[in-house]
Amino acid sequence: MRPRRFAASGPLKGRIRVPGDKSISHRSLMLSALAVGESRISGLLEGEDVLATAAAMRAMGAQVERTGEGEWLVHGVGVGSLLQPQAALDMGNSGTSTRLLMGLVASHPITATFVGDASLSKRPMKRVTDPLSLMGADITASPGGTLPLMLRGASPAVPIEYRLPVASAQVKSAVLLAGLNTPGITTVIEPVPTRDHSERMLKGFGAELTVEVDTSGTRTIRIRGEAELQPQRIEVPGDPSSAAFFIVAALVVPGSELTIENVGLNATRAGLIEVLRQMGGDITEVNPREVGGEPVADLLVRHSELKGIEVDPAVVPSMVDEFPVLFVAAALAEGRTVTTGLDELRVKESDRLAVMAEALTAAGARVQETEDGLTIDGTGGEPLRGSGNHSVATHLDHRIAMSMAVAGLVSKAGVEVDDTRPIATSFPMFETLLDGLSA
Ligand code: S3P
Repeated sequence: MRPRRFAASGPLKGRIRVPGDKSISHRSLMLSALAVGESRISGLLEGEDVLATAAAMRAMGAQVERTGEGEWLVHGVGVGSLLQPQAALDMGNSGTSTRLLMGLVASHPITATFVGDASLSKRPMKRVTDPLSLMGADITASPGGTLPLMLRGASPAVPIEYRLPVASAQVKSAVLLAGLNTPGITTVIEPVPTRDHSERMLKGFGAELTVEVDTSGTRTIRIRGEAELQPQRIEVPGDPSSAAFFIVAALVVPGSELTIENVGLNATRAGLIEVLRQMGGDITEVNPREVGGEPVADLLVRHSELKGIEVDPAVVPSMVDEFPVLFVAAALAEGRTVTTGLDELRVKESDRLAVMAEALTAAGARVQETEDGLTIDGTGGEPLRGSGNHSVATHLDHRIAMSMAVAGLVSKAGVEVDDTRPIATSFPMFETLLDGLSA
């Protein structure tokens, strides 16, 4: 454990750049490892989760090499040619690595064992093993359908048409990635749209993939299997989910005026910005452009007097990872913020509803936990009391640690976080950046 107290800070001013997008970084490594030939990736997030994916692709035969800061070179083996890993694949804390790689293994004639840390080993895998079993994979999970888990791929796998029972980009991606090496057409029906990086990148690598949207917004995604992927040069845009902590920090710390450069603004990811604007947040998009086929801008964020709102549950998939830090904004806003439709937050790296309710309450916020959300009565800009001698429990969840660090910036006594180590899974430079701004 590495505890740390985050104390009240002066205004956050200047410019920062956030690291590469975690979702896109994972997919860059996986698809490059399946292309025939050499791909180059720049701006790759070098957090522990992505490094777990890199190690797994190496263990399955790809050459994956770091050539500089965020610069990676990958020699792919080709779809269908992943090799049998010689040891268990250690997924660490990373649900995305686990679920997407299970999809890849499912349609290759190999067997892999997936293991992870205490947090990952509690997370549900049935949502992925169900469709992959239908495709022919043979899976033995631990009781409760969790890791450790052994997956024997099917060769050939059977194409399926699968309607997603949960709004999950990870489940969608697992099926599409399995479809890459499955003869015929694999179809995923997505009633509620989730992040579309897999679709964009599969197309970018040359897979035959189509997306049809009907009048109700349901998306039907079809991929033709036994694809040949072409190597690419990829520039990974900055991660909006990492930017989120600094966006909220600049909004809540009086006097702040902060520019966050190179933030990915794919509509399936940008829900937080819209919700914060509805709360009165002053966020301006500067220099909008495209990076790696994704919309990107620099964000100029100024301290704002935030007001509580009822958050429309329809936005949940487009900000599913940003709720912990939105709760911090709500705790400092004027009036009541009500969130609903957040059942999925209970199965992230921690139960983010229960854990944030407890952590914010310990820091002096007024929070009520409901079955599928939190209701928060904000201070109207007054600093929170802080956590005193109590340290808040982060349960191996990077986003809880960073959210409570932001809460500490607007608190009388500071907020002590019990363990900052998990931050390295997605944002190794977080504390350095924050300390540089608040110094
Ligand atoms: C991710 C999808 C989301 C998100 C996770 C990354 C991805 O999970 O929470 O951090 O890269 O596909 P779900 O799809 O399970 O909601």
